[in-house]
Amino acid sequence: MCGIVGYTGKATALTPVLEGLRRLEYRGYDSAGIALAVTKGEPLWIEKRAGKLGNLEATLTRVPDAHSGIGHTRWATHGGPTDRNAHPHLDNEGKLALIHNGIIENYVELREELEKRGHIFSSDTDTESVVHLLSDSRKKHNGDLAAAMREVCAELRGSFTLLAIHSDEPGRIVGARRNSPLVVGVGDGENFLASDVSAFIAYTKNALELGQDEVVDITAEKIVITNLAGDVLPQKAYEISWDASAAERGGFEHFMLKEIYEQPKAVADTLIGRTAGLDSEITAGINLEGITKVVIIACGTAFHAGLVGKYAIENWANISVDVELASEYRYREPSVDGTTLVIPISQSGETMDTLMAMRYARSKGARIFAVCNTNGSTIPRESDAVLYTYAGPEIAVASTKAFLTQLIAMYLIALHLATVRGTLTQKEHDEIVTHLAELPGKIEQVLETVEPLRELTRKFKSASSMLFLGRHVGFPAALEGALKLKELAYMHAEGFAAGELKHGPIALIDQGTPVVAVMPAAGSLLAEKMASNVQEVKARGAVIIAIGDADLASADHMIRIPATHPFLEPVLSVVPLQVIAYEMAVARGNDVDQPRNLAKSVTVE
Ligand code: G6P
Repeated sequence: MCGIVGYTGKATALTPVLEGLRRLEYRGYDSAGIALAVTKGEPLWIEKRAGKLGNLEATLTRVPDAHSGIGHTRWATHGGPTDRNAHPHLDNEGKLALIHNGIIENYVELREELEKRGHIFSSDTDTESVVHLLSDSRKKHNGDLAAAMREVCAELRGSFTLLAIHSDEPGRIVGARRNSPLVVGVGDGENFLASDVSAFIAYTKNALELGQDEVVDITAEKIVITNLAGDVLPQKAYEISWDASAAERGGFEHFMLKEIYEQPKAVADTLIGRTAGLDSEITAGINLEGITKVVIIACGTAFHAGLVGKYAIENWANISVDVELASEYRYREPSVDGTTLVIPISQSGETMDTLMAMRYARSKGARIFAVCNTNGSTIPRESDAVLYTYAGPEIAVASTKAFLTQLIAMYLIALHLATVRGTLTQKEHDEIVTHLAELPGKIEQVLETVEPLRELTRKFKSASSMLFLGRHVGFPAALEGALKLKELAYMHAEGFAAGELKHGPIALIDQGTPVVAVMPAAGSLLAEKMASNVQEVKARGAVIIAIGDADLASADHMIRIPATHPFLEPVLSVVPLQVIAYEMAVARGNDVDQPRNLAKSVTVE
C-alpha cells in the first residue's frame, strides 16, 4: 500500500529517505513526498509531487541540509492521486508533518470537529484529520509528540502506520502502528523507521519489531517503545537475513526478470534442511493431532499457491482442504473451530484481507500455521507456527519467486501433515523428497528456454485476449498464468480448468486466439484428457502454445519443461508463464515492475 520511511542521525537525511522511498516504491506510486526538519522552530521543508518518485526527484535540485526527515510513497485510497493529496500533510503552522499508510475510518467526523475548531484543511485525504488532531494534542501535552501520538491513536478507528516530525524537536520522529506494518532499523548514531526492512538494509541489519497499538519514539541515539497507555515496553530485536544487494537490479532490465532468474536459489533456500521433516522449532507452537479439516486463506498469487497446496495435502495427507479467498472468507462467517487448521499464505505478511480472515478463524479457536516471506510481519506474529519462505526481498509488484517458494512451503506442509497422520508410505515420501530436491536444477533448465520464449511471446503482442488451460495442479498454474498476464500486459486473460471448457468458455475461442495449455505429466490419464481438450479448441481456430514434459502433436508451439513428480509440476510450468507475461508487458510498453493501479502489499480491505 503506501511506503513510509523516517531517518534521524548524522547523515544528510535526504539520502537515506530517498533511498528508502526507492526501495518502497513497490508499495504504491501515485505520489511521493518528503519533509525535512532543517531549522529548529522554523516551518519544515517539504516537497511532494503526484506520480512516481521520479517526478519528485526531478524537483530536488536545491535541498537544504537536514539530519532528520520522513518520506512517503502513496497508493491512493481517500482523495485522488494529486499534488495536494500527496503526503506528508502539515498542520496549519507548517511545523508538524505526518505520513500515513492505511485508512482512518472515522476521518469524516474528526474533520468536521476539527474544522469547527478552526483548522484549515488543504487535501481530500483521511490522513489530514490526524495531523490536525495531533497538533492540538501536542499543545495539550506541552510539546510531547509521543504523548500526543498515544492520545490520537486511541481516538482513531481503522488501520494505520503513522510517522510524525515537528520542527521544535528536529531530531525526533514518532511513529505508531495498528494493522499496518512498521519496523525500526537500529543504526550506529542513526535510527530508521520504515514500512519494511528493505528501506534501510543498506545501512543496518539490526531491527526491532513493533506490535499492535505501539508507539515508537526515536532520536539518533535513543529508541523508546510504549503502548498507548504510555508503559515502556521491552524491545524485540532481530537480525535481518536479507542481503542489501538482493534489493538491487543487479544488471537486469527489470526487478521482475531478476526475480524470475533468482527462482532456483529461492526454491533451494526454502528447501534447505526441511525435506527430512520440519524442524521442531517451526512446529513446536502447533499441535496437528486431531484436526479434521484444513482451510487455506490467501489473496492473489498466494491464493493460487493455496490451490496447488489443496491437491497435495488432500492426496498425501488424506484430509479435506478448502482454499478460500481471504476477502470472501471472513464476511461469510464460515464454521470453523479448534479442529480446523488454518494456513494463511502471504508474501508480505501484511495483506489486510488475509490478516482479518486469519483473525476471524483464530477467534473461533482455529490453529494457525502461516506461510510467509517476511520475518517479523503481522501474520506470522499472530500465528501459532510459521513456515518462512526464503525468496528474499521481492521488489517487482507481480509476484514470481515468492510464488514458487509458497508452492514449496505447501509441499513441505503436506508432507509434514502426511507424516503426522501416517498417510504416505516411506517409499512415496522418499520419492517426493527426491523430486523436490531436483527442482532448483530443473528450474535452471527451464530458464534456459527464456530467450526463444520471449521471441515467441512478441508474436502475440497484438492479441486481444489469451486463454490458459490446465487440469489438476495445472489448473491453478493456468490461473496464475492468466493473472500475471492481466497484471502486467493489461490484456484480457482467463485461466480455465480444461475439462470445464465445453461447459461455456469454449465460446470465447475464435480464429487465432492464443491458448496456453499447461500439460499434465506425459503418460498420465490426464495428459490424454487434456490432449483432447486441446484438440477441441484447436478445431475452433485456437493457436496452441503447450507447456509440458513431452511434445504434444497438436501444439503450434511447444515449450518443454523437465519431467517431475506430477504434483510438483507447477513449480516448473509457471516459469514460462511468468516469462510470457513479462515479455508481453515489455512488448506493449508497460511498466513491468510497477504495473498501473496495483500495489504489492495491500494493507486495506
Ligand atoms: C497483492 C499483490 C499480489 C499478491 C497479493 C497477496 O494483490 O499485487 O501480487 O499476490 O497482494 O499478497 P501477499 O503479500 O499476501 O502474498
